[in-house]
Amino acid sequence: MYEGEARTDETRTARTRETIMSTAKLILEGKEYELPVIEGTEQERAIDCTKLRDTTGYITYDPSYANTGSCRSQLTYIDGEKGILRYRGYPIEDLAGKVRYTTAAYLLIHGELPTREQAIEWRRQLTQNSLIHESMINFFDQFPVTAHPMNILASMVSAMSSFYPYDAEDEEHVYRNVVRLIGQVKTIAAFAYRKSRGEPVIYPRMGYSYPANFLRMMFASPAEDYRVPKVLEEALRVLLIVHLDHEQNCSTSTVRMVGSSLANIYAAVSSGVNALWGRLHGGANQAVIEMLQRIQTDGGDYKKYVAMAKDKNSGFRLMGFGHRVYKNFDPRATILKKACDDVLGTLGINDPLLDIARHLEDTALHDDFFVERKLYPNVDFYSGILYRAIGIPTDMFTVMFAMGRMPGWIAHWLEMRNDPETRIHRPRQIYVGPTVRTSAGRRAVD
Ligand code: CMC
Repeated sequence: MYEGEARTDETRTARTRETIMSTAKLILEGKEYELPVIEGTEQERAIDCTKLRDTTGYITYDPSYANTGSCRSQLTYIDGEKGILRYRGYPIEDLAGKVRYTTAAYLLIHGELPTREQAIEWRRQLTQNSLIHESMINFFDQFPVTAHPMNILASMVSAMSSFYPYDAEDEEHVYRNVVRLIGQVKTIAAFAYRKSRGEPVIYPRMGYSYPANFLRMMFASPAEDYRVPKVLEEALRVLLIVHLDHEQNCSTSTVRMVGSSLANIYAAVSSGVNALWGRLHGGANQAVIEMLQRIQTDGGDYKKYVAMAKDKNSGFRLMGFGHRVYKNFDPRATILKKACDDVLGTLGINDPLLDIARHLEDTALHDDFFVERKLYPNVDFYSGILYRAIGIPTDMFTVMFAMGRMPGWIAHWLEMRNDPETRIHRPRQIYVGPTVRTSAGRRAVD
C-alpha cells in the first residue's frame, strides 16, 4: 500500500546494530563514558545521546537544534557543503528535469518511483479525492477579505479532521486521508484565491495534470473555455518538485513534533502550514518580492540594501539569502534561476524585479560579509519571480510552497508514525530562573 509498515523490534535491533560504527569517549567529572557513534548511508555521523542523561545525569544543550539529529530518515538527503539534494536517492536536478510532480510525490510517500500503471492509478486517486466537502466551501465566506491565504489554508486543513474523522489503527483509513490531503490542498488554495476575489469556484477535473488542474481552478472562467498554457504548467511542475521535501526543516519538524503526541494527521499537517508561514522559513518567498519591490520604489539602489543587510543595527536581512544547512549554493535556487530565464524568455516578460534580483545576487556574492558567512541565494530568492510570471498574487506565494511541501510533510508523518524509535517529542531545558523562594511575609492584596 505505502512504504513504512510498522517495524518489529527485531528489525529495529538489526538496524541499530548495522549503523553503530564505533564509540565516542566522554569524560565528565573524571569519569569516562562511552557513547555509540552511528553512521548513515551517506557517512553522516552522530553521537547517540539517547542514554546520556540516564548514565551521566547530563543533557545536551543545543538551542535551535543546529547539531541535533532528531530521527533517522530514509526520505531526503542534503549535503549542505556540496549543494546536494536528493529525494529517496534521486538528485533533485534529475527529478525536476523530467518527472511529473505526482510521480515525485509518489516516490516520497511509497519509497520507489511508480510503474506506469501505478502512476496512472495514483493520479486518478488524487484527482478523485480533490473535491473538498461542500459544507467546507461556506467557510471561505466567513474569513475577512484581509485574511492571509496561509491562515485560510491552515484553518481549512485543520477543519478537515472534523469532516473526515478516521481510525488511526486502520491503515486503509490512514491512506485515504493521505490521498485526500494531497488531492485537496490545491483545491483549498485555489478556492481561497477565487473567494478572495469574489469569483465563482472552479472544481477540479479528471484528465489534467496536478499543476494544470490547479492553474485551471485559479484562472479559468465558468463562462469560457480555458487552455492551460504549457509553459506555466511546466514552470509550476518544477516549482512544486523543488518544494516537495527538505528533511528536518522547521515546518517538517513541527509536523513530526505534533504527530508524536498521536494528534491526527490534519492537526499535525496544519501545524506545519503555520510553521511554514514565518518569514525566516516559507514566508521568505513573499518577503523577497516585497523587498525587491521596495528596492524598485527606492530607485533601484540595491547597493544600499546590501549595505543595510550588513549593518547589524538595521534589523534588515537580505530575504532569500542564507540557509541553516546549505553553506554552498542551494541547488533548488540554481534550478529556479534557470527556470526564471526560460519562462520569462518564452513569455517575453521583462520583469524589472528579475534585474534587481540578479544585481543583488551578484553584489552579495562578491561581498566579503556574505562570502565569509557562506550566504547564498536560497530557494525563495527566485521562486517569487516565477510565481509572478504565472500570475500568482504575492500573498499566495507561501501557499504555493505549502502545496508543494504537502507530500513531504505527510511522508515524514508516516515515517515518524511507523518508526519504533518514535516517542513523544519532549526536549529538556536548562532552567536559569530564580531558585526556590517563599512568599512568606507578603500580604495578599486581592
Ligand atoms: N542577510 C544578512 N545577513 C544574514 C542573512 C541574511 N539573509 N542570513 C544570515 N545572515 C548572517 C547573520 O546575521 C549571522 O551573522 P553573524 O555570524 O555575524 O552574527 C550569520 O549570517 C549566520 O546567520 P544565522 O541567523 O545564525 O543563521 P541561521 O542558520 O540561524 O538562519 C536563515 C538561517 C535562513 C533563517 C537566515 O539565513 C535568514 O534569516 N535568511 C533570510 C530569510 C530566508 O531567506 N529564509 C528562507 C530560508 S530557505 C527556505 C525555507 O527554509 O523555507
